Amino acid sequence: MTTGIFIAIEGGEGAGKSTQTKRLSAHLEALGYEVVVTREPGGTPTAEKIRNILLDPEIDNMPDETEALLFAASRADHAHNKIRPALERGAVVLCDRYIDSSVAYQGAARGLGVDRIRALSEWATGQLLPDFTIYLDVPAEAGGERMDGTDRMEIQSREFHVQVQQAFRDIAQSSTRPNVLVDATLSIEEVTEKILEALQSVLDK
Ligand code: TYD
Repeated sequence: MTTGIFIAIEGGEGAGKSTQTKRLSAHLEALGYEVVVTREPGGTPTAEKIRNILLDPEIDNMPDETEALLFAASRADHAHNKIRPALERGAVVLCDRYIDSSVAYQGAARGLGVDRIRALSEWATGQLLPDFTIYLDVPAEAGGERMDGTDRMEIQSREFHVQVQQAFRDIAQSSTRPNVLVDATLSIEEVTEKILEALQSVLDK
C-alpha cells in the first residue's frame, strides 16, 4: 500500500523539465508536502552507474536492445529502492522522466515497439505507475536550441528527436491515466500555472 503521490514529468530534449520540476517542488513543499525530486536514468547509486554507460558518447556501437534493457534495469533499481519506499512513507515523488521516456525513445524512435518496451518497464518496476504525468510539449527544433548536445542520446539525429516529440504527443493523447500536455513554449510562469491547475485533482484526492 502506498499513500504518497507519484508524478512523472516527461518531454523531449530542452522542454524545461528540470526548471518546472524545481518550481513544482518548491510549491508543494510550501504546501507542507514531503517532496522527493528524482530523475531517470539515475536516482540511486546503481542506477547512476548505469546512467554513465547509457550517456557515454564514446560508446558508438551499443545495440538498441542493450540500450532498452539498461534503461529498464536502471528503472527497476530506482523504482524498488527509491520511489516505492518514498511513496510508502507518504511523500510526493517528482520524477524527471519515467516509463514513457522509454516508450518514446526506445519503443517509437528506435523502433523497438511501444507495447514491448512498455511491458518491459512495467515488469521491471513491479507495475509501479505514476498517479499523474505532465508532458511538456515543445517542437523538436525549439528544444534542440536548448540542448547542450554532448551525451550519447542528444547527439542522435534531428529526425530521431522529431520522432520522440511526436511519440510523446501520441502517448499523452492515447493515455487513459491522469495527465496533462502543456505547451512548453509558453513562459515559465504560464507553464507552471497550467501544471498546478491540472494537478489540483490529484492533490485534492
Ligand atoms: P538527461 O541528461 O537526463 O536529459 P534530459 O535533461 O533531456 O532529461 O539524459 C537522459 C537522456 O536519456 C535523454 O536524451 C532521454 C534519454 N532517455 C531514454 O532514451 N530512455 C529513457 O527511458 C530515459 C529515462 C531517458
